[in-house]
Amino acid sequence: MFRIIKKKELNPTVTLMEVEAPLIAKKAQPGQFVILRTDEGGERIPLTIADYNREQGTVTIIYQIVGATTRILNSMSVGDCLQDFVGPLGRPTVTEGKKKVAVVGGGVGCAIAYPVVKKFHEQGTKVHAIIGFRSNELVILEEEFRSNSSKLVLMSDDGSCGEKGLVTDALKKLIESGEQYDEVITIGPLIMMKYVSMLTKQYGIKTVASMNPIMIDGTGMCGGCRLSVGGKTQFACVDGPEFNGHEIDFDEAIARSDMYKEFEQKKQDEACK
Ligand code: FES
Repeated sequence: MFRIIKKKELNPTVTLMEVEAPLIAKKAQPGQFVILRTDEGGERIPLTIADYNREQGTVTIIYQIVGATTRILNSMSVGDCLQDFVGPLGRPTVTEGKKKVAVVGGGVGCAIAYPVVKKFHEQGTKVHAIIGFRSNELVILEEEFRSNSSKLVLMSDDGSCGEKGLVTDALKKLIESGEQYDEVITIGPLIMMKYVSMLTKQYGIKTVASMNPIMIDGTGMCGGCRLSVGGKTQFACVDGPEFNGHEIDFDEAIARSDMYKEFEQKKQDEACK
């Protein structure tokens, strides 16, 4: 059993949880995920590792309450135990060999972007973090990004914090001001990653997009995370979750992710009865 040792609400729909899982904490790397089950008979859900503490043997997950299982997870308290917590799974983000990178995160995707930024910073790579949210009340991890990057640009759709505009506006401005990035890493809503990748393609900057948002069971069996990359079929949970952003068929991925909305709504209605 995996004990919850910390629970903190980061915004009205996003929560941070620290879980006792020493074996996972020992090996975890940015970009990897865990699969958890709240109780026997519960649904298996993949969640990206947001942080880890090897000494204390803990793993941090950050989740948005979007469906039935995250709602059940959010009803659990410090001291409660999760039934299963398996990982680390997926390929780690490749952070070596780069002098300067930009990490572009959007919404709850920033929880996945944060350990990537932190790892680059710790190894001495110059990292610019560009993070975007709809409004001030939804901002998460601002201080963590600030203290682990050489530049932080905070963007909001409504101008209630940081600069008003999209993350792509900020990235374009930095590139046009002469910043030279070896790579851009983007993590967030599919539509945001699509436009980040389109922008960087114009400037010929290598771009990695994290396809965690389309994973469902995370085991390679449900087929829900199937996507086309460079004309080839790939599975985000097994072959990724990170892929060349310039080769991903984002329109197909967006259409596929919409397919599950009705089913998820039904499960959520059942869980809330
Ligand atoms: Fe089910 Fe990848 S999430 S096959």
